[in-house]
Amino acid sequence: MFIGMDHVGVAVKNLDEAINVYRDIFGFRLLDVHALPERKVRVALFATGGETHIELLEPLGRDSPVVKFLESRGEGIHHIAVKVDNIEKVLEELKKRGVVLVDEKPRRGIEGKKIAFIHPKSTKGVLLELLME
Ligand code: CO
Repeated sequence: MFIGMDHVGVAVKNLDEAINVYRDIFGFRLLDVHALPERKVRVALFATGGETHIELLEPLGRDSPVVKFLESRGEGIHHIAVKVDNIEKVLEELKKRGVVLVDEKPRRGIEGKKIAFIHPKSTKGVLLELLME
């Protein structure tokens, strides 16, 4: 089912300031910055030198789910994303196994990839993103 780690998502209060830290202090290569209004986040994607990326997430609007996260947990790791070979099949299989899904059906992620989230209730506290290229 799983074919590798794709990225780690980090919730930040201010994306521009966070980009300065990750790009200018640490030297990670900034690949892309874009808004995802349907998910109410603004995202910056960084290369790390390997196959796994870092995704910084800033809330877009007060009703963004990331606002709630920042208020209760503060800045930090928000989710991890793993690649799957067949996202529909994996969701179906996990549901059968009693896993709590945030998304029953995949939605469109960055660059037309299909993504779906698994509830932290079922993963020992980690919001898990499934991603299919
Ligand atoms: Co993500």
